[in-house]
Amino acid sequence: ELSDRGPDAWLRMILRKPSNDRTPEDLETIYEELMHMKPLSHLSNSMKRELASVIMFEAHPKSGTVVFEQGEEGRSWYLVLCGAVDVVIHGKGVVATLHSGEDFGKLALINDVPRAASIIVREDNTHLLRVDKEDFNRILRDVEANTVRLKEHGKDVLVLEKSSSNNSPHKYVVMACTASRMVEHLLDSRLDASTSTYDPALDDFLLTHVVFISPRALVQELRKHYSMDSPHHDRELSETYRRRVVFFMYRWVTTVRHPLSHEPSAVAFIEELVSDCEREGWEESALMHRISAQVSRHQEAAHNVSKWKLPPGGQPICLFSSSDSHALIKPNDDIIFRVYCADHTYCTLRLSVAATAEQIKVCAADKLGIRTRAEDLILVEVKSTGERVTLRDSEVSIPTALTLNGKIFVAPKEHLDALTVIPEQEAPTEGLELDLEDVSAREMAYHMTMFDWELFWNIHEYELLYNTFGRHRFNQSTANLDVFLRRFNELQYWVVTEICMTSSLSKRVHVLRKIIKLAAYCKEFHNINGMFALVLGLSNVAVSRLSSTWDKLPGKSRKLYTQLEATIDPSRNHRAYRAVVSSMSAPLIPFMPLLLKDMTFIHEGNKTMVDGLVNFEKMHMLAQTLRTLRYCRNRRLVIDPPTPKNEAEVRAYVRCLRTIDNQRTLNSLSNKLEPRRS
Ligand code: CMP
Repeated sequence: ELSDRGPDAWLRMILRKPSNDRTPEDLETIYEELMHMKPLSHLSNSMKRELASVIMFEAHPKSGTVVFEQGEEGRSWYLVLCGAVDVVIHGKGVVATLHSGEDFGKLALINDVPRAASIIVREDNTHLLRVDKEDFNRILRDVEANTVRLKEHGKDVLVLEKSSSNNSPHKYVVMACTASRMVEHLLDSRLDASTSTYDPALDDFLLTHVVFISPRALVQELRKHYSMDSPHHDRELSETYRRRVVFFMYRWVTTVRHPLSHEPSAVAFIEELVSDCEREGWEESALMHRISAQVSRHQEAAHNVSKWKLPPGGQPICLFSSSDSHALIKPNDDIIFRVYCADHTYCTLRLSVAATAEQIKVCAADKLGIRTRAEDLILVEVKSTGERVTLRDSEVSIPTALTLNGKIFVAPKEHLDALTVIPEQEAPTEGLELDLEDVSAREMAYHMTMFDWELFWNIHEYELLYNTFGRHRFNQSTANLDVFLRRFNELQYWVVTEICMTSSLSKRVHVLRKIIKLAAYCKEFHNINGMFALVLGLSNVAVSRLSSTWDKLPGKSRKLYTQLEATIDPSRNHRAYRAVVSSMSAPLIPFMPLLLKDMTFIHEGNKTMVDGLVNFEKMHMLAQTLRTLRYCRNRRLVIDPPTPKNEAEVRAYVRCLRTIDNQRTLNSLSNKLEPRRS
């Protein structure tokens, strides 16, 4: 005998009684009623029996009544029995309307965060059922749906899923969300200087946001929240939100560091926040002063343009730098490099590191007197093997991303096939001379590691993202990552080149021994990337086939090599390597190609957007990998310097290694040293 506006008066009366006053008959009546309710249909009968004793009735005769407000602590979970309520968010107004059979108020309970929206009664005589927090936790928490979809204007904007991880046993984590809604979600969580400072969701967001929202657009979002007037003119609440924006900004700068100083709107906003904090006397003031000083330092460094030269082969050399962070390649630094024509004449260009292939193409054609229209010209990398790679017009970081002995060519489209290697590409790159027999492996490993560390330290997390998602899509330089990867190849090919160019057998055995020791010291110094490069060089066929050389290797060195070789074994997803690294404490230089492979694997296996929402599950996975990088560099690497023997010489040598990167050339050198046995 239910009226079509909810349970009858008798039932309402029972549901208004406090739990203790309900008689067994009352409970039976409620239970019968709960059995018919659709939103509870997924619950077991025993749960419904438990609910029968605690569920409360709440009638709201007048529309406009506030059930609860955004930002309040969550105390209950609700079901709409009849009538309707509006979901209202600050600055947005009504985002959804909930009717009979729908529920609300679960988020704040599950996540222990403030209410994400206000709930306002829309129709007169709206009837709700209410379960208070403790009862909800006891009875419903574990069975409540695994996925929560929040809608705004009928469209999903936020998809949450119950997390299964151990450190947050019951919480919902964001699976997918619009960028703008995510900012709101992060600001809604308890985000301020006084509570726990590490919010993994915020960290994920800040580490990966460049993939789905530009820094400029993010500043706009934050401004929107900062200057928003709260409804009902609640000064306290709007101050809370403004201080959260301040804290968000603080975390942004400390997480992302220098790239933020390149975004004028971010710099301007920080300055505003600094003076607001001071005027209002907020405790965040000190934090803001610190980051504003940091940003100014970065800006100053960015204004000091350094000049780099890309020698044939080898690492870019800094010719001139007016700032102290000279090893960092900044996007607006200049780089000097050559561009060749089909007939092997060349011009020397000086352009910014971040110049696009199109800019390089046009400048080079102009200097070389090629009178073809820009759209009919191509920029090509010709590798030492003769392989030609046509570069996209939007590609950036061209000179730093070349292969070791690769050269840049410009030509009319139809001349692509006429581009051939320049003779010097087949010879080894110009390196310094040093008799490896005379140097201590320890001293050399030390200088190598210090150099590698410097290059590693300068890589920004974003460079890995740009590299993974396609650098041409971001128009951002990846020069520091390029240089580090180039170093990896350089070390590897230097090993092969040195051995294949040592004609005396006994000397070759010495060099081999020295390099094995060098690799072992690199490992000892936590330079795993360097160790990998050296051991990979030794396992190159041009070296591994030299059986007379290996036969003469002392047993001790052979044993050491076998151990090192085992660590680079790629089987079972590089299990050996992962075990070595996890037994090592930071700081350390990880095997970078594997880190990039992990990034690519995540990228290719997961969509960035799902149904118009950012896939935050993917962003979380990417951020995890980027955090590995952060862990490896948690402080600067310090090694006791070995007793110097020929310090200056070794230091210079490791920065300028001679290499041949053409495998055919290396094989033929190797064959000459130890002809194939028939
Ligand atoms: P909670 O944050 O506890 O309180 C407000 C509730 O409104 C929230 O839980 C959700 O259950 C519900 N809600 C429905 N749609 C939305 C939405 N688009 N954004 C936020 N909350 C919503």
